[in-house]
Amino acid sequence: MGDRVLIFDTTLRDGEQTPGVNLNLTEKLEIARQLERLGADVIEAGFAGASLGDFEAVEAISREVRTPVICSLARCLASDIERAAQALSGAAHPRLHVFLASSALHLEKKLHMTQTEALDKAAAGVRLARSLCEDVQFSAEDASRSDPAFLARLYEAVIAEGASTINITDTVGYATANEFSRLVQDLFKLVNGIGRVRVSVHCHNDLGLAVANSLVAVRHGARQVECTMNGLGERAGNAALEEIVMGLNTRRDYYGAECGINTKRLYVSSRLISTLTGQEIPPNKPVIGANAFMHQSGIHQHGVAQDRATYEIMRAEDVGVPAGNAPLGKLSGRHALRDQAARLGFTLTDADLNTAFKRFKELADRKKDVTERDLIALLSGQWVDAPELYHLESYQLFAGNTLTPTATVKIKHGGSTVTEAAVGDGPIDAAYRAVDRITAREARLESYSIRAVTEGQDALGEVTVRVTVADEDGKPPRRALGKGAATDIIEASILAYVNAVNRALIS
Ligand code: KIV
Ligand code: ZN
Repeated sequence: MGDRVLIFDTTLRDGEQTPGVNLNLTEKLEIARQLERLGADVIEAGFAGASLGDFEAVEAISREVRTPVICSLARCLASDIERAAQALSGAAHPRLHVFLASSALHLEKKLHMTQTEALDKAAAGVRLARSLCEDVQFSAEDASRSDPAFLARLYEAVIAEGASTINITDTVGYATANEFSRLVQDLFKLVNGIGRVRVSVHCHNDLGLAVANSLVAVRHGARQVECTMNGLGERAGNAALEEIVMGLNTRRDYYGAECGINTKRLYVSSRLISTLTGQEIPPNKPVIGANAFMHQSGIHQHGVAQDRATYEIMRAEDVGVPAGNAPLGKLSGRHALRDQAARLGFTLTDADLNTAFKRFKELADRKKDVTERDLIALLSGQWVDAPELYHLESYQLFAGNTLTPTATVKIKHGGSTVTEAAVGDGPIDAAYRAVDRITAREARLESYSIRAVTEGQDALGEVTVRVTVADEDGKPPRRALGKGAATDIIEASILAYVNAVNRALIS
């Protein structure tokens, strides 16, 4: 198979199974486009048979994202497989990904199936998939807890039916690195025909070993790694794409393999996905965390000043971490903004540029220097924009430790401006209640988080909220994520709330 490892990104499928993540179609498309720019070889766009939302996402991404392979997951069921094939029908490079559990535990307790029945089911599933799609991948779920001899028979059966990729999973993140490495090596010996197919791995991070287990598999011949941006995924997540990629790049001497990811786009991709999923990145996260390239101790700082190699095994610029410099200021124009955005990996249409420029000017009026980090926050927040049914005009607050917090909020809606006041447990709560009065909807705040985008007193504060808005006519309530960024955190909080309500009502 050579030295090239395919990066199979499953942020939109396994990553979307992260508790609390619920992406709409526009967000999924934006993520898929970014993954294409990043250079992902395969994008698992969803599980078409699981819901209409997933079906539509696979269909739309297939239509619009033309360079990578677009993949849909499917159980070994005719209905799932046919639905996946239908969703993928417009793709330039479609792949059908069929899976069946292989461990005794899953077969007995979940599928109520014998091993012989599982062999037949997997073979039939792949046969049907192959009749609908050239490129078929088979995953044995819970492979790391399966009997290797049975696993080998299962993989042989699907290879005989035309699967061109076989995926070895550590579904529950149970395997040690030694065990997983042994399993991969054993399967290379036990499976007849394995040389004709690509071997893939899919590891979960329950014990913090997802990346280690994936990389050790590459060392022993795996040539596809399934991973997610920022390590999103079911429970403790999947192997983090950025760590896999930088592991391969930094220790090419050891793993003996390379991938096609444009590492300079890792940082922006990570931020964009964090923004859209509402999942914050811990500061100590390898490669893309805020501390990943910071040196705190005097000894380290001194060493780095002499020679960066003393304490740095990768360069921040190679993963696209923005420098702390301020490329733009109050007087910068649209061209400068477009150029800086392009340098950071954002391709702006004319309409995008108009919105971004308006926001940039508002920010530059309040903040002397607009740094690269500010720009990334501003530009990635833009993808959370929704048509503004409600637009915040202004607000006033009375708050203090001896006052009942009171907020007056003025909002533009359908050609008129509405003002309402409310009291609350705190100033933000009061403002949110005033917004609810204006929209005449009951919105429940599910989560609220705030972070400073940059350091200093004029730092841009970015607020992320998740709300559930009651719908009219007995329809189910709608959930949405909202973002707001401003140098004033109360303003950022109200903007985030109004943004979430707009998105919920429009979705
Ligand atoms: O974790 C797992 O086993 C999976 C498969 C469906 C590939 O996500
Ligand atoms: Zn998984």
